Order: sequence, then structure tokens, then C-alpha cells
Amino acid sequence: ANEEEYAGNVKQQLAKLFDASLKAAFPTGPYVEPLVAACTSKFGDYQCNNAMGIFSKIRGQNTEYKKPASVGEAIVKNLPPSEMIESCSVAGPGFVNVVLSKIWISKNIQKMLIGGIETWAPRLQVKKAVVDFSSPNIAKEMHVGHLRSTIIGDSLARMLEFSNVEVLRRNHVGDWGTQFGMLIEYLFEMFPNIEDVNETAIGDLQAFYKASKQRFDSDPAFKERAQKAVVSLQGGEPKYRQAWMQICEISRKEFDKVYQSLKIQIEEKGESFYNPYIPGIIEKLSEKGLIEESQGARVIFIEGVNIPLIVVKSDGGYNYASTDLTALWYRLNEEKAEWIIYVTDVGQQQHFDMFFSAAKRAGWLPADGSTYPKVNHVGFGLVLGEDGKRFRTRSSEVVRLVDLLDEAKSRSKAQLIERGKAEEWTDDELEQTAEAVGYGAVKYADLKNNRLTNYTFNFDQMLNDKGNTAVYLLYAHARICSIIRKSKKDIEELKKTESLVLDHADERVLALHLLQFSEVVEEACSNLLPNVLCEYLYNLSENFTKFYSNCQVVGSAEEISRLLLCEATAIVMRKCFHLLGIEPVYKI
Ligand code: ARG
Repeated sequence: ANEEEYAGNVKQQLAKLFDASLKAAFPTGPYVEPLVAACTSKFGDYQCNNAMGIFSKIRGQNTEYKKPASVGEAIVKNLPPSEMIESCSVAGPGFVNVVLSKIWISKNIQKMLIGGIETWAPRLQVKKAVVDFSSPNIAKEMHVGHLRSTIIGDSLARMLEFSNVEVLRRNHVGDWGTQFGMLIEYLFEMFPNIEDVNETAIGDLQAFYKASKQRFDSDPAFKERAQKAVVSLQGGEPKYRQAWMQICEISRKEFDKVYQSLKIQIEEKGESFYNPYIPGIIEKLSEKGLIEESQGARVIFIEGVNIPLIVVKSDGGYNYASTDLTALWYRLNEEKAEWIIYVTDVGQQQHFDMFFSAAKRAGWLPADGSTYPKVNHVGFGLVLGEDGKRFRTRSSEVVRLVDLLDEAKSRSKAQLIERGKAEEWTDDELEQTAEAVGYGAVKYADLKNNRLTNYTFNFDQMLNDKGNTAVYLLYAHARICSIIRKSKKDIEELKKTESLVLDHADERVLALHLLQFSEVVEEACSNLLPNVLCEYLYNLSENFTKFYSNCQVVGSAEEISRLLLCEATAIVMRKCFHLLGIEPVYKI
């Protein structure tokens, strides 16, 4: 049965052992969850921190235990025998320190080398999730905020997919709403003959949006026509629907360019998709007695919030909230998603809190939010310019995503040329590496921060080959690959037959870090924090550097074992890159 045990999550496996020990040591209670955490002390690799809590519960009742440390001793004594554990000791007020067995560590890495990194995939409770991310608005700019949503959302989706969750990657584009009245009316004005409309004729949709807005604000007659156009569009009049579709199509092509460059998989189900379902959902909510009248609008009052959630505007129209409530209902009931994750800037926090609360009141979601189905708003901070203000171009325009990515790529290409790669490599290699490094740098600079903090966009910093950057990490990976290549050993063969010896302290530190990959991904997934994985990756690279500078690989007596350690490091690094949406490079 032990062979069947899931080898991925060390923490979980230790927790199981400690659970057994706690039950054996305290058969009549108190019943507590085992508290196990990784630690980097000279005393051990993991620590069980239950002794103090238990002691405070039983002090005075049980004379056997005079101090927390004696509770710790009892936990150690009752620990079931396991090949995982080398030794166990009690420190201070009952901390139980565990030193893992070197042989067990090496065996598990070997298993991964043979079975593939997928054997380390986390196992989550949930089977199907929606990640609602990117979600720009038609005809409006796709700005750096949408870039953050795209990068963070894609990474979360990748981590869930790796954990064998079926992910519906949803682009909730803003393709419906009153702005279309004005856009359509302006389109009719500009192109009396509808056949003439196409992206080259319109040119820049953002400029088109601005011009139509100007018209709307300055000309009352136009404004009135625009308002009527909304009604005609919503009433489904063919001419209006066609114009709407044309505008959406032009936007879509723009967005797709960004998704293609960044290799983002996403499926559009915009606001308009849910529109036909809204009346039915409002009806359902109304039947439950949730909806009240307030100043001509239909609203839901939420406990603890002083403004109500408007679900039908006073003019009878629907809004962002009506669409989101309906989309949530659809995702839960039609798509059967158990976990729905929304990635937008923190500025929208209140909107999400409010419609989540409404959904709980309606009984769509469990009230306490701890069980499935579950919803989470993944908020993120601003991207700032060097001046500490919202990131803008010099002419204070919104920064266009495509331009940003182009610049990252051309800067990284210039760096490579400076390193003499233009002579060494084919044009294709140069292009591909420049792109992987440039885009990787943009993504990593975003993901490595806790998403809630604002960060300053700085090309020089993100393209630095030293420090915590994608460039440094990608080069580190390429260097490992070249060590393996230069050894001229058949690593695929060696994987199957040879084993790892972890006698040097730096080998052991690196190997243990590798083994913690699974629990880190699981933590990043459960807490929806990609930066946790970035930190892991950076530390992995640091541990490797230390190992490599203190342990000779090629030509040493331990060459084979150390090559396997190199290979395992490269595999884990690549998986980290993959989960962060970064393409690895193999040559530098
Ligand atoms: N279109 C919105 C914006 O650009 C983001 C939509 C997020 N998703 C959602 N279901 N509300 O701000």
C-alpha cells in the first residue's frame, strides 16, 4: 500500500504520520489537526507544532505532562515507523523537528525522473473550475491592467490544469452596454455604406471610440440617436446587430494579437452571451424575495454595505452586476464549475464582494465560503511608471500592450546581439530566444510580486541578467542544460538505472528543495498566489548555484548522481516556467 502512496506532497505525508501519532498519544483527546510546516533550521527539515496547543488544553488535567516539551516527547514516541524519517527531536517548548531520510529523498527524486513531473502534480478537491481573466472591453483600450489580469489568470489556470482540474478559461469581454449605441451611430455616420467597414477603414478602434464619445458629449441630437440605437440593438434589429458584430470583430482581432504573442489560451464568452438569461435570473432572485425597489431601480441590499447592488437600472436596463450574477448562475448550473476565479484589479473588489454576497443570500453558494462551490476574486494592484504614477506613455496615453511586448522583445534581442549571439546562432534561434526572454521578463516581473502590491514597470530592471528576473532564471536553466549536454552522457538511460547519492550538504539541500515543488504549487493554487511559485523557482536556482560551485559535476567520482540532480533541477525549473507561462531556453 505504501507504494501506492502519493509521493508528491511531503508536508501532507508527514501530516498523516503526525495525525496517527497524535491519535495514539492522546486517544481520549484533545483532537487536533496536525500542524506541519517546512523549516530551514539546523534541527530539521520539517516541524510539527502541536505540542504547545495540546499542552494548553490538557494542563492541570493530566499529571503525566508537566511541560509542553513532554507533549512533544509523546508525539515523537508515538510516531509510526516510516522510511521517510531519519530522526526526530524535540526542541524548546515542544517543537518536534523532523530530519528526512536522505535515501527516501533520493528515491523520490528518482521516481519523478522515471515517472515524469506529472507524478508530482498536486491533488486538489475540485474537479472543474472557471478562471475568468483578461476580459478587456470592446473598443476601449486593452491596458496594462488587462495585461496583469491576462498574465496572472493564465498562470493560475496553468497551475490548476497541472493539478488535473478541468479549467474553463473565460474571457468575459465587455461587449455589451450603452457605449455601443454611440459606437454604432458613429459607425453609420462614418460609413453610410456598411460594406465599407473594415479594420483598415476604421484604423484604430480606440481613436474611433474617443471620436464617437466626443460626438456623444457635444451633440445632443447625436446623443439622442445613440440612445435610440441602444434600444434597437437590444431589440435585435438586424442592421444594428450587424454593426455591433463588426465592431466586436475588429476588437477581437486586436486582442487576439496579444493572446497569440503571449501564447494565451482563452475562450470568449462575453457579457452579451449572458444577456438573454438575465430576465430569468432576475425573476429567480425576485421569487426568493431578494429584490427591492429603490429610487426606481431594482436592487439587492447586502448586509454591512450601505449602498445596494443595482440589478435593474431605473431605465429598465441591465448592468455589470446583472450580467455577473447571471454569468455566475450559468457557470454553477450549466457549466457545473465548482470553483470560479475572477482576476481583475483590486478596484473592483466591492463589486465582487457584493454580488458574491447576493449569490450566497440566494443560496447558490454556501454561506461561509469554506466549501465548494466556491468563488474568489483575485485582485491585483496597479502598474506604475518610473514617476510613481499610473503607467502611461510620454504623451500620457494609455500604454498599448502590443507595443510593450514588442519593446521587451527588441531590447532582449539587442542584449543577445551584444553578447555576440547574432554570429553564433541562426536567425530563428535569435528571434525565438529574444521573444522567450523578452516576454518571459514582462511576465515574471509581474508575477513575482504579491499581486496585491503595485509595481513599477521598468525594462532595465526586468531585463537584468542578475537578480530575481526571468533572464537570470532562464539563463540558469540553459546553463544546466549545457552541463548535461557537455557531459556527453545519455541522461535518459541513466535516469532509469542509476541512483542519486546525496552525501554533500549542498546536494541534500537542493534535492529537498526539489521535493518540495508539489506542496509549493499546491499552496500557490489554493491561495491563488503565483508569486509563491516565483519565490520557489528563484530559491531553486540559488540552491543550484551553491551546489554547482561547491560540487564538481563532470569528471568527479559522483558525476552520474550529480548529473541526475542537474537533470531533476532542469525538469522542475521547466515546469515552473511552464506554470508561469514562460518559454524555457536551452542555449545561451
Ligand atoms: N471587462 C472588465 C474590465 O475591463 C473586467 C471583467 C471581469 N470579469 C467579470 N466577470 N466581471 O474591467
